[in-house]
Amino acid sequence: MDFQLTEEHQMIQQAARDFALNECLPGVIERDEKMQFPREQVEKLADLGFLGMMVSPEYGGAGLDTASYVLAMEEISKVDASVSVCMSVNNSLVCFGLEAYGTEEQKRKYLVPLAQGRKDGTLYIGAFLLSEPEAGSDATSQRTTAEDMGDHYLLNGTKNWITNGGTASVYLVIAQTDPAKGHKGISVFIVEKSWPGVVVGGKENKLGIRASDTHSILFNDVKVPKENMIGEPGFGFRFAMKTLSGGRIGIASQALGIASGAYELSLRYSKERKAFGTEISNHQAIAFKLADMATRIEAARLLCLKAAFEKDQDKDYTESASMAKVFASETAMWTTVEAVQIHGGYGYVKEYHVERLMRDAKITQIYEGTSEVQRIVISRSILNK
Ligand code: CAA
Repeated sequence: MDFQLTEEHQMIQQAARDFALNECLPGVIERDEKMQFPREQVEKLADLGFLGMMVSPEYGGAGLDTASYVLAMEEISKVDASVSVCMSVNNSLVCFGLEAYGTEEQKRKYLVPLAQGRKDGTLYIGAFLLSEPEAGSDATSQRTTAEDMGDHYLLNGTKNWITNGGTASVYLVIAQTDPAKGHKGISVFIVEKSWPGVVVGGKENKLGIRASDTHSILFNDVKVPKENMIGEPGFGFRFAMKTLSGGRIGIASQALGIASGAYELSLRYSKERKAFGTEISNHQAIAFKLADMATRIEAARLLCLKAAFEKDQDKDYTESASMAKVFASETAMWTTVEAVQIHGGYGYVKEYHVERLMRDAKITQIYEGTSEVQRIVISRSILNK
């Protein structure tokens, strides 16, 4: 066993750190306040090759391993989780799903520009459309339908809380093609936003990751060519579950980054701020909080890297990904609350960043499977061994 990062991993980590500090930090508070999508930052992510990090170079990606992705996600999330969620969805929910299960034609047409983050010089990203007004954790109860019309499918329904919803050019849409078969009748389609009948709903006004672009998406008699189905009819639910396992490594790394960002700010502040005649880090009440933060963050990082390692080794990483996500997201929530506490009154105002990190942390316990869903996945896995 080796706990040392390779030279390449360290270079990627440094590149992500530089990107976060130089490109994301300026304006992060204003973008959060104004709910302004970080387009410029996401375009720069494309230039860095971070939108298709794990896609093979044959399909326009950077061909890096999942550990590199974890390291980059952590660094960017320390500073701006609205940028990192965009990166995570494009990498692990959209590009991964297409590369693993798409046809050669689908990969050439959609994966190549999605991995590069550009088409004809314009930003080109994707979104993953599973959740519905009445299907969140219970993902099998899909109401969106895709009716087989012979030469095409006719798509109707509503999807909710879609990250990148307004900016994405391509949607991977989960829909019922045979309701009588329950989850075995669910399929998955590649849908272009520009097609007639696709309607982007209003932008959600959220507690955290406010600059990220979250919308509902409506489909009104959208004609989807048959060749845009991924896999066979009925493959959609398994596709969603398989893809989400990788996505959960991305969100776990995002949570890890939010926690480490809050910890680093708290460490710095506690060595500067004085109370009762000494720096507050000299008070055990603060020092012990920092010790617990550092310990939990290290444990979260190891879980993320273990899940990444298993994915790269082609092992079953579903359980590890869920463990990483539930632990890292709970670490992010706890750490950011404590970070606000350490900062006192300063923590409650925007300039010190920790209140935003606290708001951003909450979503990591909800999206890509709530903490409760992760515990379902983990308990089923350990009980079935
Ligand atoms: N890999 C492959 N197949 C899997 C699987 C996996 N990881 N997990 C389940 N399946 C299969 C099962 O084997 C089963 O197949 P068979 O019927 O053929 O045996 C089938 O899928 C149904 O599985 P379950 O019986 O376990 O289904 P369930 O109804 O009990 O639900 C669940 C399981 C884990 C709760 C699942 O519904 C789930 O993960 N829900 C959460 C959904 C979610 O994460 N949503 C996030 C939205 S996307 C998002 O947030 C993106 C964004 O924009 C940031």
